Amino acid sequence: MTKRALITGITGQDGAYLAKFLLDKGYEVYGTYRRVSTPNFWRLQALGIFEKINLIPADLVDAASIIEAIKIAEPDEVYHLAAQSFVGASFEQPIGTGDITGLGVTRILEAIRQINPEIKFYNAATSELYGNGSNKPVNEESPFKPASPYAAAKLYGYWMTRIYREAYGIFACNGILFNHESPLRGLEFVTRKISNAVAKIALGIEKELRLGNLDAKRDWGYAPEYVEAMWLMLQQKEPDDYVIATNESHSVREFVEKAFDIVDLDWQEYVKIDKRFFRPIDVNFLQGDYSKAKKKLGWEPKVRFNKLVEIMVKADLERWERWLNGERFPWDAPNYPNETRILTRGLRV
Ligand code: NAP
Ligand code: GDD
Repeated sequence: MTKRALITGITGQDGAYLAKFLLDKGYEVYGTYRRVSTPNFWRLQALGIFEKINLIPADLVDAASIIEAIKIAEPDEVYHLAAQSFVGASFEQPIGTGDITGLGVTRILEAIRQINPEIKFYNAATSELYGNGSNKPVNEESPFKPASPYAAAKLYGYWMTRIYREAYGIFACNGILFNHESPLRGLEFVTRKISNAVAKIALGIEKELRLGNLDAKRDWGYAPEYVEAMWLMLQQKEPDDYVIATNESHSVREFVEKAFDIVDLDWQEYVKIDKRFFRPIDVNFLQGDYSKAKKKLGWEPKVRFNKLVEIMVKADLERWERWLNGERFPWDAPNYPNETRILTRGLRV
């Protein structure tokens, strides 16, 4: 029988790639989206799957809409990806982030418990749980020390997932995913901010790139590979929690340098440090040991750092070239404001 999957946050980076992955596996795919005044289905359109998805309106702050979504989709598997996912914004919206990113997990788990506890559940946990707890590679047993309202909300969701697994026997898994990027990444995240700006600078549309902490190090992988790990977790005999990472760590500075290298430009001539992009607390180092996922799921990353930077810069270059040639296609960048025009507590000059 055809399997049915419900993806919350299908309009986001991971939601779009996971939808494509599950469609290719023969799943019937349902996805929740938020009602917004301007449609934001560009990622699903860019992957050519928009017409193949069943869309259900739902908001994580509205438990009734979550219950309705699960009743309509009658899923075998729920992939809970929706969240206020930007760490920077969580300092500006700590209460909303707690409600959406934290309590949202419980609203879904509780709906599953009440409607059909046989539904398998994937929770999008994160390497941000570790915070500044270690300057060595971490695994599933390492201590957590969240360093943002986002990470604290995710830690709550992580524990609720484990609690529902143990208390009610729900097949519930936490994917502790380290940063994963792609040409579909949101423009506020540093990798895509860099690849987009480098493409514009190379084509003469932009003059500079303003960034914050260049010393922060992240374990950056390739998003299309990470969604397979989500699916693998729900295909196991027993539910469990897994670190998904590359076990390599690189600084924001290295990302910048490599990205400018691709277009033969010297990054130091274009990058300006701007205090508005520093966070009240930052996570300085993240590196994940994915041995458990390799052993139990047979999962391993293939795209490494240099290749990832190349994929992202080339994709943005190609888009801006097409745009300059008058082509129009599903894409986020032309309408994105210059970030120095966005006034928030952290970003006010
Ligand atoms: P993303 O691109 O920011 O997508 C987030 C999704 O959540 C979007 O579809 C968004 O809808 C939806 N959403 C936000 N608030 C909502 C609300 N109140 N009700 C319903 N939907 C809401 O994030 P991503 O990079 O795909 O990440 C997916 C998940 O993995 C997130 O939970 C994130 O925290 C977690 N994670 C990501 C990474 C990473 O490196 N990408 C690493 C670890 C964990 P709109 O399109 O309407 O905004
Ligand atoms: N966004 C951004 N913008 N970050 C900057 C900038 C800038 O101009 N300059 C330096 N950085 C630094 C941040 O301070 C941080 O240390 C690092 O770049 C990465 O920032 P983001 O790309 O915003 O990602 P993140 O690591 O905070 O969070 C992402 O990964 C988490 C997993 O570890 C998000 O996808 C989270 O949802 C995810 O859980």
